Amino acid sequence: MSDQDKNGFKVEFKKSGLTAHWNLNVETLLELAEDAGVAADSSCQSGTCHTCLVKVIEGTFDYGENDVFAPESDDEILICSAVPTSNMVIDV
Ligand code: FES
Repeated sequence: MSDQDKNGFKVEFKKSGLTAHWNLNVETLLELAEDAGVAADSSCQSGTCHTCLVKVIEGTFDYGENDVFAPESDDEILICSAVPTSNMVIDV
């Protein structure tokens, strides 16, 4: 997927009540969340520790080339290593 295709997806951070649009200034959903003022937990930032794990309420995502220890369920996402592939609602 090209960067152009990803540009503009709306990401809603449900617990925080904040919304942001995916843009080319950030590389991960964690970065987008932090830029939007969401208090998201993180530690390793490399898809290993699961500190950043949040529930996916709606939408799809991708880890791209990131080598992550992915959760078994598609309902959970490691936001430190993921990008949206649709509009999303996540529980953070
Ligand atoms: S911060 Fe460790 S898996 Fe995301």
